[in-house]
Amino acid sequence: MGATGAVGTCFLQILEERKFPIKNIKFLASERSKGKSLEFCGKTYPVEVLTHDSFKGVDIVLASAGASRSLEFLPSAVKAGAVCVDNSSAFRMDKDVPLVVPEVNPEKIKENKGIIANPNCSTIQMVVALWPIHKVAKIKRIVVTTFQSVSGAGQKKINELLEQSKVFLAGKKVVPVELPHQIAFNLIPQIDVFLENGYTKEEAKMLNETRKIMGDPSIRVNATCVRVPVFFAHSESVNIETEKPISPDEVRKLLSKAEGVTVIDDPENKSYPMPILAEGKDDTFVGRIRKDDSVANGISMWVVADNIRKGAALNAIQIAERLVR
Ligand SMILES: NC(=O)c1ccc[n+]([C@@H]2O[C@H](COP(=O)([O-])OP(=O)(O)OC[C@H]3O[C@@H](n4cnc5c(N)ncnc54)[C@H](OP(=O)(O)O)[C@@H]3O)[C@@H](O)[C@H]2O)c1
Repeated sequence: MGATGAVGTCFLQILEERKFPIKNIKFLASERSKGKSLEFCGKTYPVEVLTHDSFKGVDIVLASAGASRSLEFLPSAVKAGAVCVDNSSAFRMDKDVPLVVPEVNPEKIKENKGIIANPNCSTIQMVVALWPIHKVAKIKRIVVTTFQSVSGAGQKKINELLEQSKVFLAGKKVVPVELPHQIAFNLIPQIDVFLENGYTKEEAKMLNETRKIMGDPSIRVNATCVRVPVFFAHSESVNIETEKPISPDEVRKLLSKAEGVTVIDDPENKSYPMPILAEGKDDTFVGRIRKDDSVANGISMWVVADNIRKGAALNAIQIAERLVR
Protein backbone atom coordinates (compact mmCIF):
# COMPACT_ATOMS: atom_id res chain seq x y z
CA MET A 1 0.00 0.00 0.00
CA GLY A 2 1.54 3.31 -1.10
CA ALA A 3 3.88 1.59 -3.57
CA THR A 4 4.42 4.73 -5.66
CA GLY A 5 5.50 6.97 -2.74
CA ALA A 6 8.91 7.76 -1.25
CA VAL A 7 8.70 4.89 1.25
CA GLY A 8 6.96 2.57 -1.23
CA THR A 9 9.76 3.01 -3.78
CA CYS A 10 12.28 2.10 -1.10
CA PHE A 11 10.20 -0.96 -0.10
CA LEU A 12 10.68 -2.29 -3.63
CA GLN A 13 14.45 -1.72 -3.56
CA ILE A 14 14.92 -3.36 -0.17
CA LEU A 15 12.65 -6.35 -0.86
CA GLU A 16 14.73 -6.98 -3.95
CA GLU A 17 18.10 -6.38 -2.22
CA ARG A 18 17.32 -8.66 0.72
CA LYS A 19 15.71 -11.34 -1.49
CA PHE A 20 12.55 -11.33 0.59
CA PRO A 21 10.73 -14.63 -0.04
CA ILE A 22 7.84 -13.60 -2.30
CA LYS A 23 5.56 -15.82 -4.36
CA ASN A 24 3.17 -13.11 -5.52
CA ILE A 25 3.23 -9.37 -5.01
CA LYS A 26 0.84 -6.53 -5.82
CA PHE A 27 1.39 -2.81 -5.77
CA LEU A 28 -1.39 -0.58 -4.45
CA ALA A 29 -1.76 3.17 -4.69
CA SER A 30 -4.45 5.78 -5.35
CA GLU A 31 -6.62 6.51 -8.40
CA ARG A 32 -3.90 8.98 -9.43
CA SER A 33 -1.58 6.08 -10.22
CA LYS A 34 -4.08 4.21 -12.38
CA GLY A 35 -2.31 3.12 -15.58
CA LYS A 36 1.19 3.39 -14.04
CA SER A 37 3.46 0.39 -13.75
CA LEU A 38 6.39 -0.52 -11.49
CA GLU A 39 9.50 -2.60 -12.11
CA PHE A 40 10.29 -5.27 -9.53
CA CYS A 41 12.87 -8.08 -9.81
CA GLY A 42 13.08 -7.64 -13.58
CA LYS A 43 9.31 -7.77 -14.15
CA THR A 44 6.78 -5.03 -14.82
CA TYR A 45 3.67 -4.88 -12.65
CA PRO A 46 0.61 -2.64 -13.00
CA VAL A 47 -0.17 -0.35 -10.05
CA GLU A 48 -3.59 -1.30 -8.71
CA VAL A 49 -6.02 1.05 -7.03
CA LEU A 50 -6.35 0.33 -3.29
CA THR A 51 -9.80 -1.02 -2.35
CA HIS A 52 -11.23 -3.07 0.51
CA ASP A 53 -11.01 -6.12 -1.77
CA SER A 54 -7.28 -5.72 -2.46
CA PHE A 55 -6.18 -8.18 0.23
CA LYS A 56 -7.61 -11.56 -0.77
CA GLY A 57 -4.87 -14.20 -0.53
CA VAL A 58 -2.34 -11.70 0.85
CA ASP A 59 -0.12 -12.84 3.76
CA ILE A 60 1.73 -9.60 4.51
CA VAL A 61 0.76 -5.99 3.85
CA LEU A 62 3.47 -3.33 3.95
CA ALA A 63 1.50 -0.11 4.36
CA SER A 64 2.81 3.38 3.58
CA ALA A 65 -0.14 5.26 2.16
CA GLY A 66 -0.77 7.61 5.09
CA ALA A 67 -2.66 7.29 8.36
CA SER A 68 -6.20 7.77 7.05
CA ARG A 69 -5.72 5.00 4.44
CA SER A 70 -4.32 2.68 7.12
CA LEU A 71 -7.26 3.40 9.42
CA GLU A 72 -9.70 2.77 6.61
CA PHE A 73 -8.16 -0.23 4.85
CA LEU A 74 -6.01 -2.23 7.28
CA PRO A 75 -9.01 -3.68 9.16
CA SER A 76 -10.11 -5.17 5.81
CA ALA A 77 -6.62 -6.61 5.31
CA VAL A 78 -6.69 -8.18 8.78
CA LYS A 79 -10.16 -9.59 8.09
CA ALA A 80 -8.78 -11.16 4.91
CA GLY A 81 -6.12 -12.90 7.03
CA ALA A 82 -3.10 -10.69 6.38
CA VAL A 83 -0.62 -9.34 8.91
CA CYS A 84 0.04 -5.65 8.28
CA VAL A 85 3.20 -3.72 9.03
CA ASP A 86 2.05 -0.12 9.09
CA ASN A 87 4.35 2.84 8.53
CA SER A 88 1.76 5.44 9.40
CA SER A 89 0.96 6.86 12.82
CA ALA A 90 -2.59 5.42 12.75
CA PHE A 91 -2.14 2.56 15.22
CA ARG A 92 1.19 3.30 16.92
CA MET A 93 -0.22 4.16 20.34
CA ASP A 94 -3.01 1.56 20.22
CA LYS A 95 -2.43 -0.72 23.22
CA ASP A 96 -3.27 -3.81 21.15
CA VAL A 97 -0.72 -2.94 18.46
CA PRO A 98 2.98 -3.68 18.98
CA LEU A 99 5.27 -0.78 18.08
CA VAL A 100 8.47 -2.42 16.99
CA VAL A 101 12.10 -1.64 16.30
CA PRO A 102 13.70 -5.07 15.77
CA GLU A 103 16.99 -4.05 17.44
CA VAL A 104 15.04 -3.04 20.58
CA ASN A 105 11.82 -5.00 21.14
CA PRO A 106 11.52 -7.83 18.57
CA GLU A 107 9.73 -10.00 21.14
CA LYS A 108 6.62 -7.80 20.74
CA ILE A 109 6.10 -8.95 17.13
CA LYS A 110 4.44 -12.20 18.23
CA GLU A 111 1.86 -10.27 20.26
CA ASN A 112 0.33 -8.82 17.08
CA LYS A 113 -3.37 -9.19 16.35
CA GLY A 114 -2.97 -8.47 12.65
CA ILE A 115 -1.27 -5.07 12.80
CA ILE A 116 2.28 -4.16 13.81
CA ALA A 117 3.20 -0.49 13.81
CA ASN A 118 6.47 0.91 12.54
CA PRO A 119 7.51 3.91 14.65
CA ASN A 120 8.13 7.45 13.48
CA CYS A 121 11.42 7.81 11.57
CA SER A 122 13.11 10.17 14.07
CA THR A 123 12.17 7.89 16.96
CA ILE A 124 13.51 4.73 15.29
CA GLN A 125 17.06 6.00 14.83
CA MET A 126 17.14 7.52 18.32
CA VAL A 127 16.07 4.33 20.10
CA VAL A 128 18.44 2.18 18.03
CA ALA A 129 21.29 4.36 19.34
CA LEU A 130 19.99 4.67 22.91
CA TRP A 131 18.74 1.17 23.69
CA PRO A 132 22.21 -0.36 24.33
CA ILE A 133 22.96 2.50 26.74
CA HIS A 134 19.58 2.25 28.45
CA LYS A 135 20.12 -1.45 29.17
CA VAL A 136 23.36 -0.71 30.99
CA ALA A 137 22.94 2.72 32.57
CA LYS A 138 19.15 3.41 32.51
CA ILE A 139 18.32 6.63 30.71
CA LYS A 140 16.24 9.04 32.81
CA ARG A 141 15.93 11.99 30.45
CA ILE A 142 16.51 12.70 26.74
CA VAL A 143 16.83 16.13 25.14
CA VAL A 144 16.79 15.80 21.36
CA THR A 145 16.85 18.27 18.50
CA THR A 146 16.19 16.77 15.08
CA PHE A 147 17.36 17.98 11.67
CA GLN A 148 14.90 16.18 9.41
CA SER A 149 15.28 15.85 5.66
CA VAL A 150 12.46 16.75 3.27
CA SER A 151 12.05 13.11 2.19
CA GLY A 152 10.61 12.49 5.65
CA ALA A 153 7.50 14.32 4.44
CA GLY A 154 7.12 12.37 1.20
CA GLN A 155 7.93 12.56 -2.48
CA LYS A 156 6.25 15.94 -3.10
CA LYS A 157 8.51 17.65 -0.55
CA ILE A 158 11.62 16.20 -2.21
CA ASN A 159 10.43 17.77 -5.47
CA GLU A 160 9.66 21.04 -3.65
CA LEU A 161 13.22 21.41 -2.29
CA LEU A 162 14.63 20.71 -5.74
CA GLU A 163 12.31 23.22 -7.45
CA GLN A 164 12.76 25.93 -4.80
CA SER A 165 16.55 25.58 -4.99
CA LYS A 166 16.45 26.15 -8.76
CA VAL A 167 14.12 29.15 -8.38
CA PHE A 168 16.24 30.65 -5.57
CA LEU A 169 19.51 30.22 -7.49
CA ALA A 170 17.92 31.84 -10.53
CA GLY A 171 17.35 34.90 -8.31
CA LYS A 172 13.55 34.53 -8.45
CA LYS A 173 10.99 34.64 -5.63
CA VAL A 174 10.33 31.30 -3.92
CA VAL A 175 6.66 30.49 -3.36
CA PRO A 176 6.13 27.55 -0.94
CA VAL A 177 3.47 25.06 -2.02
CA GLU A 178 3.80 21.87 0.03
CA LEU A 179 5.62 23.10 3.15
CA PRO A 180 4.45 26.08 5.25
CA HIS A 181 7.56 28.15 4.40
CA GLN A 182 10.48 28.26 1.98
CA ILE A 183 12.68 25.23 2.71
CA ALA A 184 15.50 25.91 0.22
CA PHE A 185 18.34 27.67 2.12
CA ASN A 186 16.16 27.83 5.24
CA LEU A 187 15.10 25.79 8.31
CA ILE A 188 11.54 25.28 9.53
CA PRO A 189 11.14 24.61 13.28
CA GLN A 190 7.78 22.93 12.79
CA ILE A 191 7.02 19.35 11.76
CA ASP A 192 3.33 18.45 11.86
CA VAL A 193 0.77 20.56 13.74
CA PHE A 194 1.18 22.34 17.08
CA LEU A 195 -0.48 20.91 20.19
CA GLU A 196 -1.91 22.90 23.10
CA ASN A 197 1.29 22.47 25.15
CA GLY A 198 3.40 24.23 22.49
CA TYR A 199 5.09 21.06 21.21
CA THR A 200 4.37 19.75 17.71
CA LYS A 201 2.76 16.38 17.09
CA GLU A 202 6.10 15.08 15.76
CA GLU A 203 7.77 16.10 19.03
CA ALA A 204 5.01 14.41 21.05
CA LYS A 205 5.50 11.23 18.98
CA MET A 206 9.16 11.15 20.02
CA LEU A 207 8.11 11.15 23.69
CA ASN A 208 5.22 8.69 23.48
CA GLU A 209 6.77 6.25 21.03
CA THR A 210 10.14 6.15 22.84
CA ARG A 211 8.38 5.21 26.08
CA LYS A 212 6.33 2.49 24.38
CA ILE A 213 9.24 0.94 22.43
CA MET A 214 11.70 1.03 25.34
CA GLY A 215 8.93 -0.18 27.67
CA ASP A 216 9.72 2.54 30.19
CA PRO A 217 6.98 5.12 30.86
CA SER A 218 9.27 7.01 33.23
CA ILE A 219 11.72 8.25 30.55
CA ARG A 220 11.43 12.00 30.07
CA VAL A 221 11.88 13.26 26.51
CA ASN A 222 12.14 16.87 25.38
CA ALA A 223 12.16 17.07 21.57
CA THR A 224 12.49 19.94 19.09
CA CYS A 225 11.92 18.83 15.50
CA VAL A 226 13.25 20.90 12.63
CA ARG A 227 12.85 20.44 8.86
CA VAL A 228 16.11 21.15 7.04
CA PRO A 229 17.04 21.53 3.36
CA VAL A 230 18.55 18.04 3.07
CA PHE A 231 17.07 15.45 0.70
CA PHE A 232 17.71 12.21 2.59
CA ALA A 233 18.66 11.17 6.16
CA HIS A 234 17.68 12.71 9.47
CA SER A 235 20.29 13.98 11.96
CA GLU A 236 19.76 14.36 15.68
CA SER A 237 21.59 16.07 18.49
CA VAL A 238 20.84 13.76 21.43
CA ASN A 239 21.61 14.54 25.05
CA ILE A 240 20.91 11.98 27.76
CA GLU A 241 21.02 11.78 31.54
CA THR A 242 21.50 8.31 32.96
CA GLU A 243 20.82 6.84 36.39
CA LYS A 244 24.21 5.10 36.54
CA PRO A 245 27.36 6.87 35.40
CA ILE A 246 28.70 5.86 31.99
CA SER A 247 31.75 7.28 30.21
CA PRO A 248 31.95 8.30 26.54
CA ASP A 249 34.44 5.44 26.01
CA GLU A 250 31.99 2.92 27.43
CA VAL A 251 29.24 4.33 25.21
CA ARG A 252 31.53 4.05 22.17
CA LYS A 253 32.37 0.45 23.07
CA LEU A 254 28.70 -0.49 23.62
CA LEU A 255 27.54 1.12 20.40
CA SER A 256 30.38 -0.38 18.36
CA LYS A 257 29.02 -3.82 19.24
CA ALA A 258 25.33 -2.89 18.90
CA GLU A 259 23.18 -4.36 16.14
CA GLY A 260 22.41 -1.84 13.40
CA VAL A 261 24.79 0.84 14.68
CA THR A 262 28.02 2.16 13.18
CA VAL A 263 30.15 4.49 15.27
CA ILE A 264 32.00 7.19 13.32
CA ASP A 265 33.70 9.23 15.99
CA ASP A 266 37.10 10.64 15.17
CA PRO A 267 36.74 14.41 15.57
CA GLU A 268 40.53 14.95 15.22
CA ASN A 269 40.19 13.78 11.63
CA LYS A 270 36.89 15.60 11.09
CA SER A 271 35.14 12.24 11.05
CA TYR A 272 31.53 12.11 12.22
CA PRO A 273 28.18 11.01 10.77
CA MET A 274 26.54 13.25 8.17
CA PRO A 275 23.39 12.86 6.04
CA ILE A 276 25.40 12.36 2.85
CA LEU A 277 27.20 9.44 4.50
CA ALA A 278 24.03 7.81 5.82
CA GLU A 279 21.95 8.17 2.64
CA GLY A 280 21.21 4.76 1.13
CA LYS A 281 22.71 2.90 4.10
CA ASP A 282 20.97 0.59 6.55
CA ASP A 283 22.76 1.42 9.80
CA THR A 284 22.22 4.20 12.31
CA PHE A 285 25.42 6.23 12.56
CA VAL A 286 26.59 7.72 15.85
CA GLY A 287 29.42 10.16 16.56
CA ARG A 288 30.44 13.25 18.55
CA ILE A 289 30.06 11.10 21.70
CA ARG A 290 31.11 13.24 24.65
CA LYS A 291 30.48 13.86 28.32
CA ASP A 292 27.93 16.55 29.18
CA ASP A 293 29.63 18.33 32.06
CA SER A 294 26.55 20.41 32.90
CA VAL A 295 24.81 17.49 34.70
CA ALA A 296 25.84 14.54 36.90
CA ASN A 297 25.55 11.66 34.42
CA GLY A 298 25.23 13.31 31.02
CA ILE A 299 26.27 12.20 27.53
CA SER A 300 25.82 14.07 24.25
CA MET A 301 25.95 12.51 20.80
CA TRP A 302 25.04 12.99 17.15
CA VAL A 303 22.85 10.37 15.47
CA VAL A 304 22.20 10.11 11.72
CA ALA A 305 20.20 7.57 9.68
CA ASP A 306 18.46 7.29 6.33
CA ASN A 307 14.86 8.10 7.24
CA ILE A 308 13.41 6.29 4.24
CA ARG A 309 15.42 3.13 4.91
CA LYS A 310 15.90 2.51 8.67
CA GLY A 311 13.31 5.19 9.48
CA ALA A 312 10.63 3.48 7.41
CA ALA A 313 10.98 0.77 4.74
CA LEU A 314 13.92 -1.19 6.16
CA ASN A 315 12.50 -1.31 9.70
CA ALA A 316 9.17 -2.58 8.32
CA ILE A 317 10.87 -5.22 6.18
CA GLN A 318 13.01 -6.37 9.12
CA ILE A 319 9.73 -6.89 11.01
CA ALA A 320 8.23 -8.76 8.04
CA GLU A 321 11.34 -10.97 7.84
CA ARG A 322 10.81 -12.00 11.44
CA LEU A 323 7.14 -12.73 10.71
CA VAL A 324 8.19 -15.03 7.88
CA ARG A 325 10.81 -16.74 10.05
N1 LIG B 1 9.07 9.47 4.33
C1 LIG B 1 9.49 9.01 5.50
O1 LIG B 1 10.67 9.18 5.90
C2 LIG B 1 8.56 8.26 6.39
C3 LIG B 1 9.08 7.69 7.54
C4 LIG B 1 8.25 6.97 8.39
C5 LIG B 1 6.92 6.85 8.07
N2 LIG B 1 6.41 7.42 6.95
C6 LIG B 1 4.99 7.26 6.69
O2 LIG B 1 4.79 6.47 5.51
C7 LIG B 1 3.62 6.92 4.84
C8 LIG B 1 3.97 7.28 3.39
O3 LIG B 1 4.97 8.25 3.39
P1 LIG B 1 5.74 8.66 2.06
O4 LIG B 1 6.83 9.53 2.53
O5 LIG B 1 6.07 7.49 1.21
O6 LIG B 1 4.60 9.54 1.31
P2 LIG B 1 4.41 9.87 -0.24
O7 LIG B 1 5.70 9.91 -0.95
O8 LIG B 1 3.53 11.06 -0.28
O9 LIG B 1 3.56 8.59 -0.79
C9 LIG B 1 2.25 8.35 -0.40
C10 LIG B 1 1.76 7.03 -1.01
O10 LIG B 1 0.43 6.79 -0.57
C11 LIG B 1 -0.43 6.62 -1.69
N3 LIG B 1 -1.75 7.16 -1.43
C12 LIG B 1 -2.08 8.43 -1.08
N4 LIG B 1 -3.42 8.56 -1.01
C13 LIG B 1 -3.94 7.36 -1.30
C14 LIG B 1 -5.27 6.85 -1.41
N5 LIG B 1 -6.33 7.62 -1.20
N6 LIG B 1 -5.42 5.54 -1.75
C15 LIG B 1 -4.37 4.76 -1.99
N7 LIG B 1 -3.08 5.18 -1.91
C16 LIG B 1 -2.88 6.46 -1.57
C17 LIG B 1 0.25 7.41 -2.80
O11 LIG B 1 -0.23 6.95 -4.04
P3 LIG B 1 -0.28 7.92 -5.33
O12 LIG B 1 1.12 7.97 -5.87
O13 LIG B 1 -1.22 7.20 -6.25
O14 LIG B 1 -0.78 9.25 -4.86
C18 LIG B 1 1.70 7.04 -2.54
O15 LIG B 1 1.99 5.76 -3.03
C19 LIG B 1 3.06 8.07 5.67
O16 LIG B 1 2.09 7.55 6.55
C20 LIG B 1 4.26 8.56 6.42
O17 LIG B 1 3.91 9.18 7.63
C21 LIG B 1 7.21 8.11 6.09
